[in-house]
Amino acid sequence: MLAKTPPMGWNSWNTFGEEISEELIRRTADILVEQGYRAAGYEYLVIDDCWSLRERSEQGLLVPDPAKFPHGMKAVADYVHQKGLKFGMYSCAGVRTCAGYPSSFDHEFVDARTFAQWGVDFLKYDFCNFPQNGDCRMRYHTMSMALKASGREILYSACNWGQQEPWRWMRSIGAHMYRSTGDIMDNFRSFTDIAKSQIGNLCMSAPGGFNDLDMLTVGMYGKGNVSLGAPCTFEEYRMQFSLWCLFGVPLMMGCDLRALSGECRALLQSEALIAIDQDEECRPPYLVRCGGVTLPNPDAKPGEYPWRSEDECTYTLIRHLSKGEFVLAFFNLSEHETRLSCLLSDIGLPYPSGIGITPRDVFTGERLGVKRDEFSVRVPGHDCRLYRCQLSRCDG
Ligand code: GLA
Repeated sequence: MLAKTPPMGWNSWNTFGEEISEELIRRTADILVEQGYRAAGYEYLVIDDCWSLRERSEQGLLVPDPAKFPHGMKAVADYVHQKGLKFGMYSCAGVRTCAGYPSSFDHEFVDARTFAQWGVDFLKYDFCNFPQNGDCRMRYHTMSMALKASGREILYSACNWGQQEPWRWMRSIGAHMYRSTGDIMDNFRSFTDIAKSQIGNLCMSAPGGFNDLDMLTVGMYGKGNVSLGAPCTFEEYRMQFSLWCLFGVPLMMGCDLRALSGECRALLQSEALIAIDQDEECRPPYLVRCGGVTLPNPDAKPGEYPWRSEDECTYTLIRHLSKGEFVLAFFNLSEHETRLSCLLSDIGLPYPSGIGITPRDVFTGERLGVKRDEFSVRVPGHDCRLYRCQLSRCDG
């Protein structure tokens, strides 16, 4: 079965855009193996848009740009495969890709065969320049059938940005992951807006088909193709990675692995977070509480109430894992430190049950001892805390 758990890998778009080449892909493949990413679970190396010539060949085939890929795509795929990785490519359901290259509308079967001949294991399938009277579902289904008929097992990553509520139908047309939001940008607002918009749409993610929140920007620090506004701090990147792992969605890195900081590399390879993302039961998280914070109001005039409140900026979520464990997660999207608390009765453990929880800090590994009735933590602004918990019978 493909995509038994959320797919993991690297994609060229976020950092490199059209600045892609065989050299870059080979180097990235080397790093994925040599620096521990493959061992951590990252498997797919995906070339996004801008890899082909601007026109098809006389035979109607897609042609890799020889200036970028002088040995063709089969050679790239072979190199990636030799490294024990899987190879991914990109096309689009419209008449041109988003960057204006030829794409697969009305060429689904011939293109799927080309990809299979090159040794492609993953196809990201975009939605730009789609004919106005086209039937979106039918076209995504057509490429799904073309991939199935190609003679090769190819993971189908459908990218239609949430058009026509893909979480309701993409799984049923055979997609293994489906983008359900617009493009991520490398800033705090972008990834938190994406995450907030998908909390209610995760219940259709399950083995074989996952909601896709877009490639990670972790480690980009404003460099690359999707920077907009202030880049993230390390704690914000840690929040992004924690959200994606808690949500159980695909983990596709988008940074320049050749120049990644040690702390972001450790974050992207965090065993404890990846174990949550990859939990075999693939259950979605459940929102326990969404709250506000009360903040000092520097604009208050003398005699005025010196506080202001900000709504919907603290999130407490629970996610059940296999073997009876679960994660409790606290996200503080406000700029100020605040205390987030979870009444255990809110997660089904009223005091008379005699059952408490034993939280272990996912970032530090620290065990906090048995908590009963209520569990609360102080969380700095733009930061989060996650605890992996088991149930514990309390005496008396
Ligand atoms: C769209 C997609 C992005 C990326 C670009 C490439 O915007 O959503 O993820 O693939 O196209 O042009």
